[in-house]
Amino acid sequence: KRIFCLVSAILLSACNDNQNTVDVVVSTVNDNVIENNTYQVKPIDTPTTFDSYSWIQTCGTPILKDDEKYSLSFDFVAPELDQDEKFCFEFTGDVDGKRYVTQTNLTVVAPTLEVYVDHASLPSLQQLMKIIQQKNEYSQNERFISWGRIGLTEDNAEKLNAHIYPLAGNNTSQELVDAVIDYADSKNRLNLELNTNTAHSFPNLAPILRIISSKSNILISNINLYDDGSAEYVNLYNWKDTEDKSVKLSDSFLVLKDYFNGISSEKPSGIYGRYNWHQLYNTSYYFLRKDYLTVEPQLHDLREYLGGSLKQMSWDGFSQLSKGDKELFLNIVGFDQEKLQQEYQQSELPNFVFTGTTTWAGGETKEYYAQQQVNVVNNAINETSPYYLGREHDLFFKGHPRGGIINDIILGSFNNMIDIPAKVSFEVLMMTGMLPDTVGGIASSLYFSIPAEKVSFIVFTSSDTITDREDALKSPLVQVMMTLGIVKEKDVLFWSDLPDCSSGVCIAQ
Ligand code: C5P
Ligand code: MG
Repeated sequence: KRIFCLVSAILLSACNDNQNTVDVVVSTVNDNVIENNTYQVKPIDTPTTFDSYSWIQTCGTPILKDDEKYSLSFDFVAPELDQDEKFCFEFTGDVDGKRYVTQTNLTVVAPTLEVYVDHASLPSLQQLMKIIQQKNEYSQNERFISWGRIGLTEDNAEKLNAHIYPLAGNNTSQELVDAVIDYADSKNRLNLELNTNTAHSFPNLAPILRIISSKSNILISNINLYDDGSAEYVNLYNWKDTEDKSVKLSDSFLVLKDYFNGISSEKPSGIYGRYNWHQLYNTSYYFLRKDYLTVEPQLHDLREYLGGSLKQMSWDGFSQLSKGDKELFLNIVGFDQEKLQQEYQQSELPNFVFTGTTTWAGGETKEYYAQQQVNVVNNAINETSPYYLGREHDLFFKGHPRGGIINDIILGSFNNMIDIPAKVSFEVLMMTGMLPDTVGGIASSLYFSIPAEKVSFIVFTSSDTITDREDALKSPLVQVMMTLGIVKEKDVLFWSDLPDCSSGVCIAQ
């Protein structure tokens, strides 16, 4: 087909050269048409009347009807096919000694269904941004969404061309799998794009992939995976010294393949079910900190293994959105940017945001964990603490999305603490250019992405069993954050190291 088009293009130009007297205006249109959709084929950039005109088909299986050859425009109904095919139509219209040519090249493609599954914060946030950025370009794609922490009103779902499905626990529900199958069954062919959370990629993707492996009309067009947060890095840290990692990865690829083909019921575990998707499908792994695979020499082999599928998550999408799309994004994530802007400017004082966390691992009560965080805040704002911020600040609180009662206790402990809604992911502040003058708080994934110069301190949790600082420093999360340059060893604080400020004066414990 390509050769045929090329030949016709040469003939056309040869023809034009011979007719120097005729002034030819050529316009070209390239577009995709989804199967069964109608596309109006018409001349462009031409007058509305001609002395004579006609259409010819220059590529693709013959489809142009006789009556369409002599009509000014006609409706092209994309046929159902086994694979994508290009159809080319060329209009020639003459008027007043001038010739107008419109070349319309249409590629018939399968419809695309985009599926999103995530129970956490970060992947959903990235996925939402991607949808908003791409919804105009891919306006016909349907989207099936199962998100745990970002709610979509019916109105907003409609704007994203999305249908909402529940999660089963933290993972893909049977309702979603059934809906994907029903959708595929209603189409001749379907391109399926899967988007989920890297740490949970196996349990989220397997129920869909295992069933559709027997459906020959579905093509997995691509898989986009987004880091859940610090969990991936702690897991990589713990795995990095394993012997023969590349061999083990390749072996588990076979396990994955046999599982999807139904040959075996053995599942790959942990890391091995996480970083093998690119061996089977067109995959992108969006890392919160791609550079970890460089700064950690023991992970260079993984970097090689992932090759071009390894991508850096980006945070600059918001600033490039239209005004309307910015509003839509803010509305969906529930962030009142103007309100926070006013609160930041309420006084001349610089602004400090304390970031809280949920419960630590350990058997203490939520009240206990809340009190530890209250003490961290007091250390930041009390002049008698060695960890005092150094000057007076307006005090803001950004609780953990899952903080619950812990957030209420912390907020209730300070008269002048301004709340930034817990459900808004902290990264949204960065995306929207709303970072405060300084941020400090409990170690969290959020510190993996915000600029280090904004961070005043990070307090790590410590357990009763590890009382020695040397041992506490060996914690994987601390190690990862030091390797990434998020925190320097001398600045690593453990809450048990902090003076007790409950009396109003901070006293070493
Ligand atoms: O703290 P953790 O690692 O569980 O954070 C996961 C995600 O939760 C962060 O990337 C961020 O989106 C959100 N978070 C937040 N505010 C906090 C803590 C976490 O928005 N105080
Ligand atoms: Mg202020």
